[in-house]
Amino acid sequence: MKTLHIQGKTGKSTLLVGERLQKLEHYIAGRPAVIITDHHLLDLYEKDFSCYPVVTIGCGETIKTLDTVNSIYRQLVDLEADRSTVIVGIGGGIVCDITGFVASTYMRGVSFGFVASTLLAQVDASVGGKNGVNFDGFKNMVGVFSQPEFVICDMNLLHTLSKRDLLCGFAEIVKHAVIADAEMFVYLERHWPQALALDSNVIEKLVYDSVVIKAGVVNRDETEKGERRILNFGHTIGHAIEKTTGAPHGEAVSIGMVAAAAIAHRCGLLSEKDAARIKDLLTRMNLPTRLSGHREAILSAMRKDKKREGDDILFVLPEGIGKTVIRPVSLSQIGQLTDGLI
Ligand code: GLY
Repeated sequence: MKTLHIQGKTGKSTLLVGERLQKLEHYIAGRPAVIITDHHLLDLYEKDFSCYPVVTIGCGETIKTLDTVNSIYRQLVDLEADRSTVIVGIGGGIVCDITGFVASTYMRGVSFGFVASTLLAQVDASVGGKNGVNFDGFKNMVGVFSQPEFVICDMNLLHTLSKRDLLCGFAEIVKHAVIADAEMFVYLERHWPQALALDSNVIEKLVYDSVVIKAGVVNRDETEKGERRILNFGHTIGHAIEKTTGAPHGEAVSIGMVAAAAIAHRCGLLSEKDAARIKDLLTRMNLPTRLSGHREAILSAMRKDKKREGDDILFVLPEGIGKTVIRPVSLSQIGQLTDGLI
């Protein structure tokens, strides 16, 4: 097991890569605890946390709402949870986002931790302190910055994931390599088959390297005033694809990264060879790199993006593998720059 820390203004977070769900008791450390999880995880792993009261929620992005939050508050009151209670979310990104939001607001904030059960949650959703829910169709519109006290990334939990869910996590791993670590990208080019097969050394190294990158960025810019925006590589177009087509997050981000790399090449920032390496790696890993149809709807969703700044959309563009810049692209240029890409 390897340990990392985030020291944010909103709290300190200890990230435990390679720790086991069965060691949860050690991190609860004798405090009263409530577990929040989903039906799927409860079926698979209930025996590992049956000594704690459990609040169970449904699965899927549509339950990430204030209604679900209300229902959890009520159950916490019924369970007599108080300020000494630690709330632990066991699950993927949706469970982590909801748990973090509930715990940060219940009684003005109680301690919380995560056991991240999906690859996407381990390398992204559980790390960083952003916790929130969707509102009126807008993703993560209502939320807080607040660091989980601990995050357990247990590689053993990855074995029950579907291939598609695993691939979504790999898209974020590739993203981390492109934005910040050329050596990690070469490692992925050499070891992607073992990664997809969940070879324990390879997957633990990739999760750790990803968390190092994300934790480093968050430590320097917790509340996304500047550098943290590089974590949005592939997400500007990716979120629009997700919203328009309902594609899973990682698949949409994969298409978004290939499009952003092509835009970077068109802007003279990225060589044709490096743009091709990004596309080739994602293709070999069986992630989608192109979307046909929906072009107008995707462009329209980008124009409505909540991160739009006036007439510009901020794009994260690679200048090489392992290095990115943030460039404003005017709404009038978007159509031309994305021609043939989406
Ligand atoms: N909780 C996810 C993030 O902060 O990026």
